Amino acid sequence: MQSDLSAARFSEKPPSSSALASRQRTRRSAFVGVSLIVFLAFLSTKLQGLRKTRFGGYPQQFLSSASTAVCPQVDALFPNRNADLWETTLQQTASSHFKARSIDLLAGAVQIPTESYDAMQPVGVDPRWDVFGEFHAYLARVFPLVHANLKLQKINTYGLWYEWTGLNSTLKPVLFTAHQDVVPVGPFTGGEWTHPPYSGYFDGHRVWGRGSADDKNGLIGILTAIETLLENGFTPTRTIVAAFGFDEEASGLEGAGELAKVLLGAYGQDGLAFIVDEGDGISKTFGTVVAYPCVAEKGYLDVVVEVTSPGGHSSVPPDHTASPGFALAFTVLTLVFADHRYSRRSPRPVRGQSVPRAARTLSRASVPFQTFQCLAQYGSTLPPAIKALIADSVNSDMALHTLEGILSKDKLYRSQIGTTQAVDVVSGGVKSNALPEEAHAVVNHRILAESSVSAVREHNVALLQPLAEKFNLSFNAFGVGVSQPGVPSSGNLTLRDLSDALEPAPVTPTNGEISAPYQVLSGSIKAAYNTRRAANNDNSTLIVAPSIMSGNTDTQFYWKLSPHIFRYGHGNSAGLGPEDILDGIHTVNESIDADDFVEIIRFYITLMLNADESSVL
Ligand SMILES: *[C@@H]1O[C@H](CO)[C@@H](O)[C@H](O)[C@H]1NC(C)=O
Ligand SMILES: *[C@@H]1O[C@H](CO)[C@@H](O)[C@H](O)[C@H]1NC(C)=O
Ligand SMILES: *[C@@H]1O[C@H](CO)[C@@H](O)[C@H](O)[C@H]1NC(C)=O
Ligand SMILES: *[C@@H]1O[C@H](CO)[C@@H](O)[C@H](O)[C@H]1NC(C)=O
Ligand SMILES: *[C@@H]1O[C@H](CO)[C@@H](O)[C@H](O)[C@H]1NC(C)=O
Ligand SMILES: [Zn+2]
Repeated sequence: MQSDLSAARFSEKPPSSSALASRQRTRRSAFVGVSLIVFLAFLSTKLQGLRKTRFGGYPQQFLSSASTAVCPQVDALFPNRNADLWETTLQQTASSHFKARSIDLLAGAVQIPTESYDAMQPVGVDPRWDVFGEFHAYLARVFPLVHANLKLQKINTYGLWYEWTGLNSTLKPVLFTAHQDVVPVGPFTGGEWTHPPYSGYFDGHRVWGRGSADDKNGLIGILTAIETLLENGFTPTRTIVAAFGFDEEASGLEGAGELAKVLLGAYGQDGLAFIVDEGDGISKTFGTVVAYPCVAEKGYLDVVVEVTSPGGHSSVPPDHTASPGFALAFTVLTLVFADHRYSRRSPRPVRGQSVPRAARTLSRASVPFQTFQCLAQYGSTLPPAIKALIADSVNSDMALHTLEGILSKDKLYRSQIGTTQAVDVVSGGVKSNALPEEAHAVVNHRILAESSVSAVREHNVALLQPLAEKFNLSFNAFGVGVSQPGVPSSGNLTLRDLSDALEPAPVTPTNGEISAPYQVLSGSIKAAYNTRRAANNDNSTLIVAPSIMSGNTDTQFYWKLSPHIFRYGHGNSAGLGPEDILDGIHTVNESIDADDFVEIIRFYITLMLNADESSVL
């Protein structure tokens, strides 16, 4: 996955040059679990203050008014028909032998540097893809039963499509996916790693290296689960599909983009029972262990804002307020300023149209709202005032708006509840003695699930139209002439897409009968979590809270295959301090706890067996 937080904090990749092209499809995501913790710490301090003032009068009965229907939980789900097999795999995966073998499997995968880069030449042209051939040879060597029993097709040379054909072809197959590629290790960061990035070093506790947590743990976890089931003589009733792209960290187009076409051809529209890809995992939030399967994914839109006007020599400058640089600076400031009120206020309606949905915020139907409800319900150390506010927001508009107001003051949380915009590139003018004739900025939008690309475009048009008028610019937006000044035009203001826009993903159902896949997933998460705790006499319980992924995954290509898409990795940072929580994803010191990795394998086994015998999928 790609992470906003890690990109912003650690900036491993050097900032790209001013060339627009090199910014193509730079996508980043936020790690929801982390944002939750960071934000809720903030929220807590805010509300401590609020409790004494505005919320001092909240009645206690309010706390009990939160009904359990707000964040429904299912029980742990254990395989029934396959109960004996599952028990056997439990014992097997609990052994030190299995752990040592899992560590070796992951370490060996990490040692092959399958880096993907922005703007690579196609497969067959760019030699940097060649390393994926080595990776395939490794997989074939260490997973002999997988390669003897599953059908494997290579798509666009390096995309991997495995099918473990089930006995009953009327049952919809399930798809497990992960990506083979990793984010490049920054050229100057190699020395900062505690253990070298491609060492796969095991220090007795953690496996170190690039890909250990994103996403070779997923890929090796899935294949190890299948290999283990094969060793135990299992034959699936329901077909199990595994698909692994190889450029998720760049654009995904060569890998998942091509895989999606053949998968759609093979299984058809809505032909899969569910899809599980990388995503958020488990973390401790306000005293409670929470698993955060992402059931929504934000969209994105990169808009180029361009201002052109006749230039001139700066020794005889025209009124500087008429220069495109000035106009652009003004434009950019407008956008930056707009970011702060984006989630608070509606933009001006465009020519009598209704207010674009982009501007609306924390909706009760939204996934982040569900996440908050779960925390209010189960966060054991969440202060009562916060619980009250969140619970009350189910029915009270005032509480909802208060909550929304507080949330939108925090950068991380604003990104969870609203569409965001960030100005990424600003440039203009090439010579110091000439007024720029052209200036441009790139504005990156991360689009909320309830909104759309077109709503965000409309929002931009509404924001910038007054500016075009102010500077007497002809205004052209997304290929359409929006307005001409009444006076002779002093230049052009143009908005256009930088790269392909991505609509927010359809939201996976988490309530009602159609949410059976979510229930099976939730129950499997709990079963996998509980078994390990039971073995250690640990009675901690876990709750499952649906959440939104701010970034994008390869599932952006798989929407047509199933409405039930989960971005969830069962990675566990519940025992780690806030500083360690990212597990070094996209930065130095990427590593994974070996026991957690074994539990990831157990999670895949459990989910595969539960799905195999489920009559509700
Ligand atoms: C296959 O599954 C369907 C749906 O559960 C069931 O109706 C059918 O009897 C099964 N076929 C066989 C051969 O088991
Ligand atoms: C990597 O981990 C080592 C200790 O194991 C630490 O000294 C170093 O600061 C870490 N690097 C970063 C960038 O966090
Ligand atoms: C503005 O756009 C028009 C139409 O595309 C073009 O003819 C004109 O040269 C542009 N003006 C400037 C200053 O770029
Ligand atoms: C726009 O045109 C009007 C009318 O010609 C003029 O008064 C004003 O100064 C112009 N504004 C800019 C920023 O050029
Ligand atoms: C869980 O275990 C802890 C420590 O052994 C104990 O204090 C606590 O009461 C237990 N909780 C439950 C619900 O059993
Ligand atoms: Zn990833």
